[in-house]
Amino acid sequence: MAEGSFSPLKTGQTAALIFFEASTRTRMSFETACARLGVYPMILDGKSSSSLEKGETYDDTVLNIAAMKPGVLIIRSGDNFALEKMAEDLPMPILNAGWGRWGHPSQALLDIFTIWQRRGRVEGEKILIIGDIRHSRVAASHFELAKIMNYEVALCGPEEYLPEKSEQRKFSSLEEGLRWATVAMALRVQNERHAGAAAVADYSSLYGLNQTTAKWISDKTLIMHPGPINHGVEMDVKIIRDPRAVILEQVTNGVYIRQALVHRALREENL
Ligand code: CP
Repeated sequence: MAEGSFSPLKTGQTAALIFFEASTRTRMSFETACARLGVYPMILDGKSSSSLEKGETYDDTVLNIAAMKPGVLIIRSGDNFALEKMAEDLPMPILNAGWGRWGHPSQALLDIFTIWQRRGRVEGEKILIIGDIRHSRVAASHFELAKIMNYEVALCGPEEYLPEKSEQRKFSSLEEGLRWATVAMALRVQNERHAGAAAVADYSSLYGLNQTTAKWISDKTLIMHPGPINHGVEMDVKIIRDPRAVILEQVTNGVYIRQALVHRALREENL
């Protein structure tokens, strides 16, 4: 087996991609990962054209798909879906493809892989997570992964977007935070989770990455965003093309990480 390749999997295996919430990167990169591994992806993508439209519950949907015996379930769901309980009850592995605000582990892994690829190390890196952290499953997974892989996470954002309780250092000034960081990670402002709340005044000038604020970022600091991006809110379009930005590398690496996850779930010794 060549270095960096995956051992062949048993032929004829299937992976059920169950996406109750919208996704472009995660869904398509899991699908690409399956294709590269020779695993057939069975896709349920949102309510449209599924029996969710007729009122079938999320639990029943997953139980019925599991009864078709896919080798692995890959699930994106909202806060209220009992993903952990489902993983305990079902015989096949479940991969979390983004679970409400609770976690998005494959995203945190691909972020860390991207940092490792650029730097050759992860330990000691200082990631400043900027913006809508209270609602962020990406941030939640970094809080966990940072303890395992020994990197530091700090937070910067308006008070109403920060977690009510957190162990992480907080920067009230974006300039101070960016000067501290070795990685600046902007998050999407999740407007859909702020229903009824007033928009944060001056968000983009106080917390956005743009040509003014990017001057506070050193040449060696990486600029990341998990996507999708609200242009002109948390990040200006010019920043995406900044030489320090690795946003599309994150997407490319997402396929490798998801190949590794699907392979791990389906490899011979687990069957
Ligand atoms: N980063 C991420 O999860 O993007 P999608 O919602 O498009 O999958």
